[in-house]
Amino acid sequence: MDLSRIRNFSIVAHIDHGKSTLADRLIQLTGTVAEREMKDQLLDAMDIERERGITIKANSVRIEYPAKDGQTYILNLIDTPGHVDFAYEVSRSMRAVEGSLLVVDATQGVEAQTLANVYQAIDADHEIVPVLNKIDLPAAEPDRIKAQIEDVIGIDASQAIPISAKTGLGIPDVLEAIVQRLPAPKGDPDAPLKAMLVDSWYDPYLGVVVLIRVMDGRIRKGDRIKMMKTGAVYGVDKLAVLKPKMVDIDELGPGEIGIWTGSIKQVRDTRVGDTITTEKKGTETPLPGFKPSIPVVFCGLFPVDANDFEDLRDAIEKLALNDASFTYEMETSAALGFGFRCGFLGLLHLEVVRDRLEREYDIDLITTAPSVVYRIHMKDGSMQELHNPADMPDTTLIDHIEEPRIRATIMVPDEYLGDVLKLCQDRRGIQEELTYAGTRPLTVYDLPLNEVVFDFYDRLKSVTKGYASFDYQLTGYRQDNLVKMSILVNDEPVDALSMMVHRDRAEMRGRAMVEKLKDLIPRHMFKIPIQAAIGGKVIARETLSAMRKDVTAKCYGGDATRKKKLLEKQKAGKKRMRQFGKVEIPQEAFISALKMD
Ligand code: GTP
Repeated sequence: MDLSRIRNFSIVAHIDHGKSTLADRLIQLTGTVAEREMKDQLLDAMDIERERGITIKANSVRIEYPAKDGQTYILNLIDTPGHVDFAYEVSRSMRAVEGSLLVVDATQGVEAQTLANVYQAIDADHEIVPVLNKIDLPAAEPDRIKAQIEDVIGIDASQAIPISAKTGLGIPDVLEAIVQRLPAPKGDPDAPLKAMLVDSWYDPYLGVVVLIRVMDGRIRKGDRIKMMKTGAVYGVDKLAVLKPKMVDIDELGPGEIGIWTGSIKQVRDTRVGDTITTEKKGTETPLPGFKPSIPVVFCGLFPVDANDFEDLRDAIEKLALNDASFTYEMETSAALGFGFRCGFLGLLHLEVVRDRLEREYDIDLITTAPSVVYRIHMKDGSMQELHNPADMPDTTLIDHIEEPRIRATIMVPDEYLGDVLKLCQDRRGIQEELTYAGTRPLTVYDLPLNEVVFDFYDRLKSVTKGYASFDYQLTGYRQDNLVKMSILVNDEPVDALSMMVHRDRAEMRGRAMVEKLKDLIPRHMFKIPIQAAIGGKVIARETLSAMRKDVTAKCYGGDATRKKKLLEKQKAGKKRMRQFGKVEIPQEAFISALKMD
């Protein structure tokens, strides 16, 4: 393949600025997919992505475009996930292409994720073509947004292309700009094979499918291929390009992007960012910058009905086949029985996995308090990582505890700035920057990750009516005064509700939790004390008073159908309850009790 006729690019944008819609238009206009097969948001494969409108897995499409210069070009688009949890996958896919379309919603302007993603593109030395989307809307202000892109990002936006991904306006200009303004890839076809593993996923028919970008050399059907990080060797059974349907091909050369399969059993055996070469006469030098993605948020997943445990195990194993960044191990809890301790890249990742388990596999789940990974430094000089507050070692043996911190970038309209600063301060944030991105305030905070995992996004959204944008990176660990807080219901500790908190905030958290639980736990025939404690010391307490349990008592008189309805309702409610000693706690309590107002 003639390298000068290839263009590889990605699209960077803030969520909802129209990245998927633009990708669809590019595919449609070049006739890559027949009109009748076109469904909106082609690249978002999974239903759940479609429903939530978020893109999770990087994916790719090869487009053939006859340009105005009379030549036909191969355009490879790698679609990157837009959410902060998947920042590492974004950075790898960026290294697989030479240029980016920077899509900015002309009614909204630059947002936190626009910045985070465009900086990744700049880091990867991309040529960047700014695109102003949604100019069909009356509220579009292309000139103002152009100036903002120049001010805030510091790139030339004079040639920004005004488009409407919805109506198709300006799409031909985007295709021409990809050819004219983005550089062709470089690479030596005769050098040993060097390719980057960009993504991988599990296909029920083909096994693990690996998306690669060839840098140097060639990969052919029948080759023996080595993964440099793991040392594993596989054959190339199938080699194909994605249009976006798989179309078989015999060889991929420098600058090309395609997939191969070779009886790989688990997505885990394929590390995003790894270098791929031939088993014999391969390259000696891997591509720089590989790092494995590691889970940062952990929580327990338990079936509401203990009989569903085997189903849950099955479902988790299937999910993990397709998601290497999700980890799990069996866990037993005194109160919840058998379940799994699972690790996620972030909160959104956790939510997506939990949703899929409940929806695709139809299992009712109890999710325990999400926890970050603490470093417990013992007096004997050793260090252990704590993934679960229930495993906290004897406090007399602990010297100090460190927690992970993040650098959070938040952009928000002026009128909500005060509320956002207060929220960050309340969550133990330390302000590092407060500047203006054009006319909008931009603030950077150093925050403990543990204060963000519960409900920070939700709170941020609600105090700013949805106008704030947020992005974060992990920065490192820092020592702080952290303690384990336990919750006792009817004098029994409910380990699924125990959590690590900062000592200064323990009373407040404890009080909020017991008050919430008092509202969430239905009354029983006896009095129930609900307490929060640190070590043996109770720091907050509420008492749920007793009541008669017979729900039909309140329908005096003899309306039998109403009585039956009430009993049925009570029965249905019971299904989602768990028994703790003598007390029944509804499933929602586990999530709701953790949210702070
Ligand atoms: P994520 O996949 O969540 O990152 O979002 P995205 O950036 O891919 O945005 P998407 O393409 O899903 O578009 C978001 C919303 O904006 C959808 O409801 C689109 O229909 C709408 N939209 C996209 N482009 C245009 C446009 O040019 N004009 C108008 N009016 N609406 C648009």
